[in-house]
Amino acid sequence: MQNRRARIAATGMYVPEKIVKNTDLEQVMDTSDEWIRQRSGIETRRHVEGQSSSDLAAEAAKDALSKAGWQPSDVDLIIVATLSPDHFFPGSSAILQAKLGLETTPSMDLRCQCSGFIYGLNVAKLFVESGQYERVLLVGAEAHSPVLDFTTRGRDVAVLFGDGAGAVLLEAAPAGSEQGILSCVLHSQGSFANRLWIEKPGTVNGTWVTNEDIEEGRTFPYMEGRYVFKHAVTRLSEVVQETLSKNDLQASDIDCFLFHQANLRINEKVADNLQLPMEKIPSNIQKYGNCSAASIPMLLHESLQTERIQPGNKVLMAAFGSGFTWAGAVVQF
Ligand code: UT7
Repeated sequence: MQNRRARIAATGMYVPEKIVKNTDLEQVMDTSDEWIRQRSGIETRRHVEGQSSSDLAAEAAKDALSKAGWQPSDVDLIIVATLSPDHFFPGSSAILQAKLGLETTPSMDLRCQCSGFIYGLNVAKLFVESGQYERVLLVGAEAHSPVLDFTTRGRDVAVLFGDGAGAVLLEAAPAGSEQGILSCVLHSQGSFANRLWIEKPGTVNGTWVTNEDIEEGRTFPYMEGRYVFKHAVTRLSEVVQETLSKNDLQASDIDCFLFHQANLRINEKVADNLQLPMEKIPSNIQKYGNCSAASIPMLLHESLQTERIQPGNKVLMAAFGSGFTWAGAVVQF
């Protein structure tokens, strides 16, 4: 008999209103629309104005709840994946829980950066399959812009990232249904932590944050762009193949590949490596930039809304990011 399966019941998303064009960034740093488009594919991104990542998460969650016809109280567990939490502690999932008007619903944060949504999908899947929780809200939410260095010093990172949130609701699929999360693969390699990170504030060296940390830019994100790019292409290509083989599938069995939106060129190289047709790889990085843990759920939501993903489709998701972390999942709709 087929095991109980966790399916995605509904999705939602939210992006802040403020649209920032590449030409807007030209006004504050030494960059150009041409450089950003050629290197990354990005044309615009959204920036928060007075909102935190849990505010974005709450809006995306409400969108998903209304699409599913659920009340917040129908949710048994909340998971938030974010690298830009409201506070160092408590986690953003607790803040989101209160914003949804809930009293004691359990909530947890996952800190797996750009792979956070797929890690969260795996955690939610196991809770639903085990029967411990019936209905799980999983949100990827990022307010990157308050943490970026919008001077020429920070241009290699600041032009790439945007703010937004995507939410999914998971529940047990009806018995005998083909729908559901088939399986996930997860990886991390902490020896590369300092290739893409925010070093401070943090407890390393027994200090929290010093004036020198601020002056030296350690409180802004740091990325070795080319190094991360090469690892992203290699690990994404590997994890797509591993995810396919774990599910006993061929690439031709997949109707749609939802890849993390870090750089259009990364995804083109992965497609080239694996001989995947670009028509099967939708992207929204052009509009939103890199939204870390929110990128895949936002792309999933848009792909369902535009019917790019249809009932019965098999979707393969894959992500790579800081940690390094990388992950893949196959979902049958
Ligand atoms: O989501 C987590 C995972 N993140 C990623 O996977 C991102 C991976 N990395 C990348 O996407 C790319 O490496 C970047 C888009 C960040 C950079 O592209 P690149 O082709 O690797 O450029 P580069 O870092 O080698 O820089 C080339 C030049 C440098 O100038 P010089 O040394 O050649 O004179 C940079 O200083 O471009 C310069 N540069 C810029 N110029 C204009 C760096 N940032 C900018 C900028 N505008 N914003």
